[in-house]
Amino acid sequence: MYGFLLFLWLNLIVMYRTHTCGELRAAHIGQTVTLSGWVQTIRKFGAMAFVDLRDRYGITQLKLDETLLAETTLGREFVLQVSGLVIERESKNANLPTGDIELQVNDLKLLNAAKTPPFTIEDQTDGGDDLRMKYRYLDLRRASVRRNLELRYAVGRAARNYLHDAGFLDIETPFLIKSTPEGARDFVVPSRMNAGEFYALPQSPQTFKQLLMVSGYDRYYQIVKCFRDEDLRADRQPEFTQIDCEMAFVEQEDILQTFEGMIKSIFKAVKGIDYTETVQRMTWEEAMWTYGNDKPDIRFDMKIQNLKTVMQDPYAASTLQLEKGFPVFDQAETVLAISVPGCAEYARKQTDELTEWVKRPQIGLGGLAFVKCNADGTFKSSFDKFFTADQLKALASTCKAVAGDLILIVAGAEEKTRKACSDLRMEMGTRLGMRKPDEYKLLWVTDFPLFEYDAEDNRWVARHHPFTSPKPGHIERMIANNPLIEDAAAYLNHPYAGIKANAYDMVLNGNEIGGGSIRIFQKELQQKMFAALGMSEEEAQHKFGFLLGAFEYGAPPHGGIAFGFDRLCALLGGSETIRDFIAFPKNNSGRDVMIDAPSAIDAKQKKELGLN
Ligand code: AMO
Repeated sequence: MYGFLLFLWLNLIVMYRTHTCGELRAAHIGQTVTLSGWVQTIRKFGAMAFVDLRDRYGITQLKLDETLLAETTLGREFVLQVSGLVIERESKNANLPTGDIELQVNDLKLLNAAKTPPFTIEDQTDGGDDLRMKYRYLDLRRASVRRNLELRYAVGRAARNYLHDAGFLDIETPFLIKSTPEGARDFVVPSRMNAGEFYALPQSPQTFKQLLMVSGYDRYYQIVKCFRDEDLRADRQPEFTQIDCEMAFVEQEDILQTFEGMIKSIFKAVKGIDYTETVQRMTWEEAMWTYGNDKPDIRFDMKIQNLKTVMQDPYAASTLQLEKGFPVFDQAETVLAISVPGCAEYARKQTDELTEWVKRPQIGLGGLAFVKCNADGTFKSSFDKFFTADQLKALASTCKAVAGDLILIVAGAEEKTRKACSDLRMEMGTRLGMRKPDEYKLLWVTDFPLFEYDAEDNRWVARHHPFTSPKPGHIERMIANNPLIEDAAAYLNHPYAGIKANAYDMVLNGNEIGGGSIRIFQKELQQKMFAALGMSEEEAQHKFGFLLGAFEYGAPPHGGIAFGFDRLCALLGGSETIRDFIAFPKNNSGRDVMIDAPSAIDAKQKKELGLN
């Protein structure tokens, strides 16, 4: 009896198809099969037609004869069910997994017709960005987009497997929480039952995961949506996903080891890469001095050399003896250089073009100086009349340049020039093909500053977040001197000094893929931290009283990290645009153009929410 029911049920579930469109091979020749899918292309040859039928798994070529063609009208994206005999193809297609066979259709059922799609549903589509986003459900049919979502699933699964095996519990935290803007702006949700009051959507589950540590769940993770109302870029979405993790009774080293392991296991599972080397580490200061930014791409060298002291003090203990000053260098706060390998033979046109590149508003420099280190040992610079051959030689040696290198030099105000030099380094790395998409280089950047000056609001803010602990040796300093007053000048004059935090980022190929810290777990220190950020006791109590309260009930030492899941997926998929790895992303103005959100709400709804 049960056997018969099972037979009936199996027949029901195979009704629409016996195989997928990506499944049939030469071994199936001679079998009668049923497929269901979408019409990708129709090619008519006299009385015959060849149709490519597509589903999530692939494409199978159908062969339709005159009679079937006469009975049915077919069009692109029509949904069909076809049955027939698998036969060997006359002209095989080696680029298609099903390219050895085709289906000689003897029964065709039109399951649904379709309007002509607004763009071609193929890898090389004729649809622009806006159109594809408006019809995202059609865009998602394209194999390239589908592969991105499959990769995303594989990354999530690998992360879950690793964390599960390491004893982490997946615990959900709420989405309707309290607004405590720090860093980005909150998205808020009006409460109907509490008129005039608002929830906020979480920018991250930070405080909840810390509370879970107080509760004793010493290994927590969640692959979770986060919401931030900030300006969008290729690597930022207003709602994005984190692999969010927290551990109790750990030090920084435990966290770095655990999550280095997680990323390596994702590499293995998703890309088949054995990342056996230990992940390189670098302090934030070193990253800033040598690469000009806190997320260096270490796939290539081209480190930044600081020439300022050498150039501005010709009588310093250096080999450079400037007889005549070069005002551009002399007047600059900073003079920085990179040696670009193999570019000494750049023509005038090419150096002019690079000069224009640094003058673009995005970079904003006044110009670019260069020294060509010729193969014959001579030097040619853009400031020859100020420098002797010996001085150029000394400069090249300071830059560790070798014959064939082109030294690019930028000068100006410290912060702007350092950023520009970093951008120039990345640009040259890209132009010279040194940023290979299939090469992966991980890096831990550690010892971030605890505070950062927010010039726009003229106040000090926590660089990571206010729950991050200062480095042990720096705690006293933070408590004794309000760093916001005492150290302000030091920060401004020496941007790379100051109180450091137990905070770390994981960087992949020049992108920040994760960030975290060892947390403050004592109430008093947390209160000091809030005070250091300019919060009154009342404000701290109002915003974070629940956390301060929890810290009075036996909070264990703890720390954690969150990875940008979308970013990680994009990078593993060889892209820096996270939108392509999100099923239904927002556009650059934060809109979902498909469902047309955000949108106005009607008067009744507004009234109910107390928004009138
Ligand atoms: P943080 O703010 O550094 O840390 O975020 C962690 C990681 O999330 C990713 N990310 C984003 N991805 C896409 N769109 C965005 N708008 C966006 N913003 C951030 C980045 C980043 O490294 N609660 C802390 C973590 C902790 O301390 O444990 C946090 O959220 O890849």
